[in-house]
Amino acid sequence: MDKFVVRGGNPLIGTVHISGAKNSALPCMAAAILTEDEVTLENVPRVRDIETERRLLASMGAQVELHAIVTPAGSPSSSAYESTSREHTTISCRTLTDPVARYEIVKTMRASSLVLGPLIARTGVAHVAMPGGCAIGGRPIDLHIKGLEQMGATITQEHGYLEARATRLRGTQIVFDKITVTGTEDLLMAAVLAEGETLMENCAREPEVADLAALLTAMGAQIEGAGTATIRVRGVTGLHGARYRINPDRIEAGTFLVAGAITGGDLIVANCNTAHLGAVIAKLREAGARVDVLGPDAARVRSAEKLSAADISTEEYPGFPTDMQAQYMALATQADGVSVVRENIFENRFMHVQELVRMGANIKVEGSAATVRGPSQLSSAAVMCSDLRASASLVLAALVAEGETIIDRVYHMDRGYERFEQKLSSVGAQIHRMGNVFAPRDEKSSPVSQPA
Ligand code: UD1
Repeated sequence: MDKFVVRGGNPLIGTVHISGAKNSALPCMAAAILTEDEVTLENVPRVRDIETERRLLASMGAQVELHAIVTPAGSPSSSAYESTSREHTTISCRTLTDPVARYEIVKTMRASSLVLGPLIARTGVAHVAMPGGCAIGGRPIDLHIKGLEQMGATITQEHGYLEARATRLRGTQIVFDKITVTGTEDLLMAAVLAEGETLMENCAREPEVADLAALLTAMGAQIEGAGTATIRVRGVTGLHGARYRINPDRIEAGTFLVAGAITGGDLIVANCNTAHLGAVIAKLREAGARVDVLGPDAARVRSAEKLSAADISTEEYPGFPTDMQAQYMALATQADGVSVVRENIFENRFMHVQELVRMGANIKVEGSAATVRGPSQLSSAAVMCSDLRASASLVLAALVAEGETIIDRVYHMDRGYERFEQKLSSVGAQIHRMGNVFAPRDEKSSPVSQPA
């Protein structure tokens, strides 16, 4: 099992380029199920969750291919901060021989349930394994099921699988009892091929929902209001292929902003979408970091004289993202004073706390609130990742810890961060991987198409 070895103490200086958003790419890949034509996605990150989704689609009969092209350095680009690598992923779901999402795949990635809506919409039947619990809480999919039933699907549950059937889904009014990101995406994909109009209320407003809707619109869907709480969909009888560029990953960008701030560095976070980073940038500024927005696609973070405590409370977008809570907590250990970190989205999302405490942090958890007293001089320890964002938190803490920290189970990190250790070392961090470098697909770039 791979480990990271991190020697703390170096300020991060330079420029890092942000990859495409994993949480946009996942629903966009699932959207390819909705058409017989080819869907081409640019800026799909090379991370393990994407490889899992590729396997899931391939197991149903789809063809997923990665085409890598590298633009020569110095070629004209539309922005000073754009990276030079271009690649695209093509997905063809012309033949879906086996509309089943097997447990072996679903258990490794809960977002596999995103195929439920598009499968019923396209084929009239879906067999999808129920996701189990995961480290950060129960995470049910009852709202996906309820919405599909309201659209006329018959759903039964047996042997750990959902079987969903519908001749053609029909438009209806859906009011989500609770805001759910993948639930909104799943039902949006179901609604685009339903008969008549679907009105969805209390929807997630995350940029990833808007990203998916933009792809669906390019495929011929009729959608209004994506990115707001109310989405109106007029069902169409068929969708066609499209080409779409995935937005930058706002959580990866936020993680690097924290990395720059916590190490007292001078870091440009490039290829990001600063419009999606409002809550994170505001909180870093409140904690004393100097963050300059350089344009729509880049931000610069610089060392503060002293970081000071600032509370956070996780909320749905545009609030402070739960996916940045663990990373922010690492920063809070270095801030002067008491920071209260409230987790409102998931139960049990404080798995990183015990590891941070082992490194010398002073954190007390009570219910959904963690009280962090800082600053603490962190010291190296052997620590273990429990989930994707907790892993990032431990790396950030290790960057400022005395000595050499060994971080175990970095496969959690590989689920969602592309070449994290390489990006960090390119700006001065002392980090290396022990074990096999994660390479979900052929890392060599070539003008010929490669199987993804
Ligand atoms: C998505 C993101 C994840 C992020 C989360 C919250 C993807 C692939 N993952 O996860 O990174 O942390 O949003 O921003 O996009 N819930 C129910 N019933 C349901 C669905 C959800 O009770 O049917 C609850 C969940 O248990 C949780 C809350 O709603 O407490 C929000 O979950 P949800 O937005 O669905 O998270 P995901 O879409 O799984």
